[in-house]
Amino acid sequence: MLAMNKLRILSLTFLTVASAAIIASCGNGKGQAWEYARNMYDPIAYNPDQPNKNFSNQQTAQLPPDGTTPVGYDRVVEEYPNTLEGYNAASSGLKNPVPVSAGTMNEGKLLYNHMCAHCHGTTGQGDGNVVSVGKFPPPPSYSTGNSSRGGAMKDLTDGKIFHTITYGVNLMGPHRTQLSPTERWKIVMYVHELQKAQ
Ligand code: HEC
Repeated sequence: MLAMNKLRILSLTFLTVASAAIIASCGNGKGQAWEYARNMYDPIAYNPDQPNKNFSNQQTAQLPPDGTTPVGYDRVVEEYPNTLEGYNAASSGLKNPVPVSAGTMNEGKLLYNHMCAHCHGTTGQGDGNVVSVGKFPPPPSYSTGNSSRGGAMKDLTDGKIFHTITYGVNLMGPHRTQLSPTERWKIVMYVHELQKAQ
């Protein structure tokens, strides 16, 4: 008796679910079917292309404010090309936006030791491991050497160092895909410390 009831309940449940599914799938292809969760089709929020009376130009999609930096925007790559002119323009146009603190300096040092010290040496004298094994010509010392692009290495500006890390120069390869702009700026900060070495 009990088993019979169970079977009935089961088949009734099955019929209900099946007919619900069949009814729900009925439609004439013109969007007039019974829809589940209407809000998912017409969200309460404005769509970007919808008119919008909250703004004076009646548009939902507003232009970002002047000076907005898009996510992932690499200013040097976008604005200063890999040329001598680009390098000099970066020198006058770029200032390190990362504030100097014990924390950021330490991160700069760590990144420098991982990414640069094998060539430039931990103290920036151009005596890294790949140089001491005799397979690579020594890069100029940050404090006493001269840049191949003119001037003393100790006078290299924020922009020149950032441009160099981004694009590389001669035997030094580019690092823009390995280091984010912020990471590069932290390294620039630390290179300034090494420029002061005796
Ligand atoms: C494969 C070895 C190598 C690596 C790695 C390397 N450099 Fe260099 N770097 C050089 C050499 C060689 C030069 C000299 C190139 C020239 O002027 O001909 C140089 C030059 C420079 C200059 C001088 C640029 C100028 O304007 O004259 C700076 C600044 C510099 N490197 C910073 C860095 C920093 C910071 C890193 C780490 C992110 C780094 N380098 C990684 C080899 C390297």
